[in-house]
Amino acid sequence: MFVVLYVISMVIITAIIVGFYQKATNAICKSKKNLTGRTAIVTGGTNGMGLRIATDFASRGARVIVACPFIDEGTQGRNVIVDKTGNSDVVFKMLDLASLASVRSFAKEILETEDRLDILINNAGVGVGVDRLTKDGLNFIMQVNYFGHFLLTLLLLPLLLKTGTPSEPARVVNTSSILHNIGIINFDQMNSLKYWYTIQLYGNSKLCLILFAHELAKKLKGKNVVINTVDPGAVGTGIFNCVGSFFGVLISYFFKNFYKTPWEGAQTAIHVALDNKAGKVSGEFFKNCELTRARSAAYNDRLSAKLWDESVRCVKLDSAEVKECLTPRL
Ligand SMILES: NC(=O)c1ccc[n+]([C@@H]2O[C@H](COP(=O)([O-])OP(=O)(O)OC[C@H]3O[C@@H](n4cnc5c(N)ncnc54)[C@H](OP(=O)(O)O)[C@@H]3O)[C@@H](O)[C@H]2O)c1
Ligand SMILES: *[C@@H]1O[C@H](CO)[C@@H](O)[C@H](O)[C@H]1NC(C)=O
Ligand SMILES: *[C@@H]1O[C@H](CO)[C@@H](O)[C@H](O)[C@H]1NC(C)=O
Repeated sequence: MFVVLYVISMVIITAIIVGFYQKATNAICKSKKNLTGRTAIVTGGTNGMGLRIATDFASRGARVIVACPFIDEGTQGRNVIVDKTGNSDVVFKMLDLASLASVRSFAKEILETEDRLDILINNAGVGVGVDRLTKDGLNFIMQVNYFGHFLLTLLLLPLLLKTGTPSEPARVVNTSSILHNIGIINFDQMNSLKYWYTIQLYGNSKLCLILFAHELAKKLKGKNVVINTVDPGAVGTGIFNCVGSFFGVLISYFFKNFYKTPWEGAQTAIHVALDNKAGKVSGEFFKNCELTRARSAAYNDRLSAKLWDESVRCVKLDSAEVKECLTPRL
């Protein structure tokens, strides 16, 4: 009995210390950049960190498009941003990253109705707990966190390429996680439902995001779009709620009370989207508003090239389309 209590209290104390460390090392974006006349898209911009990122951009005068799969939540999130910032140029558009058709129709509408796109924040994500195949035949977690953003980014590239200039490149920011460290890329099992625990899939999807940035940055070398990945740290949002178990409730409680707030967690993404120096690098990884390194597997050229080909196949893009995506729009 005593031993059990001892172990439990050590775990709790460690968790609290990690939380203090997370908060103490968090950095705040210091950019004063004015975004009047610019357009930004934030996926999952209606909740959690995405909502704070979108609010920041709106307060700097940007036109902000927030996207999520639920109309009521989306509309409500949009209204919160408008109320907070007084900027009414905020629109909600429906986007379900778990559906290739939804990603395509969202991108098509953007390409048809927007004449510029300065910033794309690939922030949406799902945590653990749901393990099923989507109607596109891909693993749900992999599709929302990785394949959906892969397709979205490629389809929006022509507009990003058109908008970027040598002094002000358009910017893509992907949201990875410390859990990319547990990620593995096994091409035969990328969409498998047989992982021992779904957090493995979360880690895999987050490693894919960094590899993708690496590969796309190479393909875009010399063009006016930069692409970087951020790790927000451990943040108290709803993302772990869907664990739906005793553990889920416990983790959420800890994260909400002892870890970074969504606003704190949003800072690195905002920094990478706005900071002058961050706009000069591509294919890199940031944490606490600083350039750092992801694990070395994330910079493996052979792996990233193979993942690119495999992803193109999974999202059902043909080679003519891929070529078109890498060409600026007139
Ligand atoms: N919290 C952390 O400690 C932590 C740590 C490292 C990385 N991250 C990453 O940070 C990002 C933001 O997470 P968060 O913590 O702010 O979580 P969150 O509060 O749960 O927000 C996630 C957002 O993604 C949206 N979303 C979920 N499924 C979607 C779909 N199928 N299509 C489009 N949008 C979808 C959600 O929309 P609905 O609300 O409408 O479902 C929500 O707006 C994620 O990529 C996450 O992996 C979080
Ligand atoms: C940004 O600049 C515009 C003028 O170009 C100005 O009207 C606006 O108030 C500025 N916004 C912020 C948030 O500083
Ligand atoms: C973000 O991910 C998408 C797909 O996962 C990819 O197209 C894009 O290059 C990635 N960018 C970054 C910065 O990782």
